[in-house]
Amino acid sequence: MTNDLKATNITWHEGAVAGSEREELLGHKGVTIWLTGLSASGKSTIASALEQHLLHSSVTAYRLDGDNVRFGLNKNLGFSPADRTENIRRIAEVAKLFADAAVVAVTSFISPYRADRDTARKLHEDAGLGFVEVWVDVPLEVAEQRDPKGLYKKARAGEIKEFTGIDAPYEEPHKPEIHLRADQLSVEESVATIHAYLAQHGYLAAK
Ligand SMILES: Nc1ncnc2c1ncn2[C@@H]1O[C@H](COP(=O)(O)OP(=O)(O)O)[C@@H](O)[C@H]1O
Ligand SMILES: [Mg+2]
Repeated sequence: MTNDLKATNITWHEGAVAGSEREELLGHKGVTIWLTGLSASGKSTIASALEQHLLHSSVTAYRLDGDNVRFGLNKNLGFSPADRTENIRRIAEVAKLFADAAVVAVTSFISPYRADRDTARKLHEDAGLGFVEVWVDVPLEVAEQRDPKGLYKKARAGEIKEFTGIDAPYEEPHKPEIHLRADQLSVEESVATIHAYLAQHGYLAAK
């Protein structure tokens, strides 16, 4: 499904606003902050605090959250390896559109496969857009103890199959731009760490 190219006879139509002009108008660059980690590691919690923090700092930010996207755009996808890959491919394309619009896109998906995250990164890099991989890292025992949605309990009972960390793999990032030990940092400290990275790397200014 993912690799079938069915769109033919199409031509790219350039817009009238250059990327740099768009950045100047918004006052900052676009970039995708890609949060990855186990279920219950804190991705959604950190993403929503980060989005709020950036908006309150006059930085246009928008969250793409794992479960939320499955209510709409990706409602026809499950959790098999092929569906997880297609899930991430679509999110990466949508995040790229936001980053191209000079928005800070904050994605929170388990995204357990290294190859899928690398595909998301490459999509951005090929388009000259920033991609910041953030590993929201907690030991499995901590995630399982938090279990805010009771999913680990269900997975252990065999009621959910192919659950990451239980009977499906999580491939740890080798070289994430940011590694958050989310069992040792508060939500505020995680947000401050990401903010500092964005500032240091020039994303929060137009030039
Ligand atoms: N330092 C922390 N950082 C992030 N989440 C934390 C932290 N401490 C406790 N939590 C809790 O852990 C849970 C993480 O859930 P959630 O953000 O939905 O994870 P995910 O989106 O990765 O599945 C929440 O209930 C959150 O309140
Ligand atoms: Mg979540």
